[in-house]
Amino acid sequence: MSEVAIDRIFPLPAEEGIGDARIAESYSAGAGSPWLRVNFVSSIDGAATRQGLSGGLSDDADHRVFDLLRRLCDVVLVGAGTVRAEGYGAMRVDQVSQRARREAGMTAHPVFAIVSASLDLDPASPIFRDAPERPIIVTTELSRHDTREALAEVADVVVCGEERVEPARLVAGLVERGLRRIHCEGGPHLFGDLIAAGVVDELCLTVSPTLEAGVASRISAGAAPILPIGMRLAHVLQADDTLLLRYVKRA
Ligand SMILES: NC(=O)c1ccc[n+]([C@@H]2O[C@H](COP(=O)([O-])OP(=O)(O)OC[C@H]3O[C@@H](n4cnc5c(N)ncnc54)[C@H](OP(=O)(O)O)[C@@H]3O)[C@@H](O)[C@H]2O)c1
Repeated sequence: MSEVAIDRIFPLPAEEGIGDARIAESYSAGAGSPWLRVNFVSSIDGAATRQGLSGGLSDDADHRVFDLLRRLCDVVLVGAGTVRAEGYGAMRVDQVSQRARREAGMTAHPVFAIVSASLDLDPASPIFRDAPERPIIVTTELSRHDTREALAEVADVVVCGEERVEPARLVAGLVERGLRRIHCEGGPHLFGDLIAAGVVDELCLTVSPTLEAGVASRISAGAAPILPIGMRLAHVLQADDTLLLRYVKRA
């Protein structure tokens, strides 16, 4: 099957039909260390889901970049709501990505880190059973001790806050483990908390060319930060009518 063509239309000069290496370069430009990147897809009118899932908004170009971003990170960070809704399995990348990662001196697969206060996660699920790297569960002091112990059999359980996971502690905890390239795949409530805490360095946003209307959530939810956070447009990729935007935090 031929790969979907992706053009880079900003910054100029534009480049047509760029390959994975060039796309990866574009996503790596100017990234600091540590670095927290967030990736979402949204319809033009701001829906983050169709029928409760992000999949309906996604297309081949979005899948291609989604996979590439996993290739570039040390850890994939996801809120438990998204893990449950989207039915995540073990965090594995394909063979091409495994090879690229090994050549870059990384582990074959990124670590999977899940944020949860309720710990409503099944220790027997493939997330843990088939994990190539031991997952991390980031939780709170108030989470149930018996559940925590059961999950500690299959994952590293890290406490980063009393009632809610505090984003600054979460990031520090991952960095302490050498996981400096943090890639968050959502969802909206986790993203809202990360924004409010001022720890987001980058947002990658796929704009899917549909109007959805309805009551779907936006890509962020929950408490707002005291001031809006200004972002700078770092690149724009285009595949047919889909745009793949990369915004980084203003210095
Ligand atoms: N468009 C996209 O690209 C995209 C991406 C991701 C998700 N989604 C969609 O978003 C929907 C899920 O939304 P959501 O807002 O529920 O997702 P979410 O942010 O992944 O999940 C919320 C849950 O994550 C945990 N959590 C998040 N922040 C926390 C914190 N600071 N401290 C403690 N726990 C925290 C809690 O889990 P517990 O309940 O276990 O305590 C919370 O209930 C799904 O429909 C999914 O398809 C869309």
